[in-house]
Amino acid sequence: MSLTVADVSSATRSALDAIVMAKDLAQLKLVKIEHLGDKSNLSKASQALGKIAPEQKAQFGKVVGAAKAEVTAAFDARLVVLESERDAKVLAEERVDVTLPATKMPKGGLHPLTILTNEISDLFIGLGYRVAEGPELEAEWLNFDALNIPADHPARTMQDTFFIEPLESRLVLRTHTSPVQIRTMLEDQPPIYVICPGRTYRADELDATHTPVFSQVEGLVIDRGITMADLKGTLDYFAQSIFGPDVKTRLRPSFFPFTEPSAEVDFFFNGRWIEWGGCGMVNPKVLEVCGIDTSEFSGFAFGMGLERTLMVRHGITDMHDIVEGDIRFTRSFGVGGR
Ligand code: DAH
Repeated sequence: MSLTVADVSSATRSALDAIVMAKDLAQLKLVKIEHLGDKSNLSKASQALGKIAPEQKAQFGKVVGAAKAEVTAAFDARLVVLESERDAKVLAEERVDVTLPATKMPKGGLHPLTILTNEISDLFIGLGYRVAEGPELEAEWLNFDALNIPADHPARTMQDTFFIEPLESRLVLRTHTSPVQIRTMLEDQPPIYVICPGRTYRADELDATHTPVFSQVEGLVIDRGITMADLKGTLDYFAQSIFGPDVKTRLRPSFFPFTEPSAEVDFFFNGRWIEWGGCGMVNPKVLEVCGIDTSEFSGFAFGMGLERTLMVRHGITDMHDIVEGDIRFTRSFGVGGR
């Protein structure tokens, strides 16, 4: 193929025109491929140099070289212009108005039950206790049998307990935090000082004073020479820390399969006695199931509802406020507790 000087200058002209016409970087890129790429006329002219007669080579070579330099310079200049146009556009588009008012995210708050749980945990940690936890989906054996609640005990009937299918799984939603006592005694050697807060379940309707999903806190102490006097002293300290320094407690005889003797604990608050929870000396049968030597160790346990504790302390009259999660209720307790 023979290319003339005229061909080179027409290729140069159309390249220069195309460069000027390119409106943006994408178009300029296409122009480069077409007019400076391997298949462009200018490249073909360079390739043709090899086959040209030696006497014309220098002359034609200069023409082609000058043409390429001119087109390349025009391309580079256009590139600078289009790049700065693009930068200006991006800057304008991405401009942030720092004078606009900010969207304020409201501060969240811990649920009052969480605040109370933390408060009780801290209180007992201060007495040398450890916080123990167990699963909410619990083995029936740990929830009942190991606690000396026999198979025919009313607490085991369908009315109270959420059983889990298939029934052969022998799993229940724990009806109290007492199974954590068993778990702790099976894992640890005495002396044991634990507090076990947690969520519990019973097939109740939600109303002003009941909820099927509720919370308890369980205390368990196993050591040498533990008596009911230790239990009473601990409950007094607990009640006074939660309800105020002048609060008194009293024990009323009662029955729980896992304690012997058992008592109901009340506290005197705002001029009246209020039922708080159950307690007692851990039944030796329960200690034996857990492999604890009853000739050496004895212990006490107690368990109370956290919702009830919260309702009494803060004069909350409707359980719905506690379970519904309305942020206005939660916020009135502050962000992180007292
Ligand atoms: N687990 C009992 C309940 O849910 C409460 C309770 C009573 C816990 C006596 C105890 C206890 O640890 O000693 O009704």
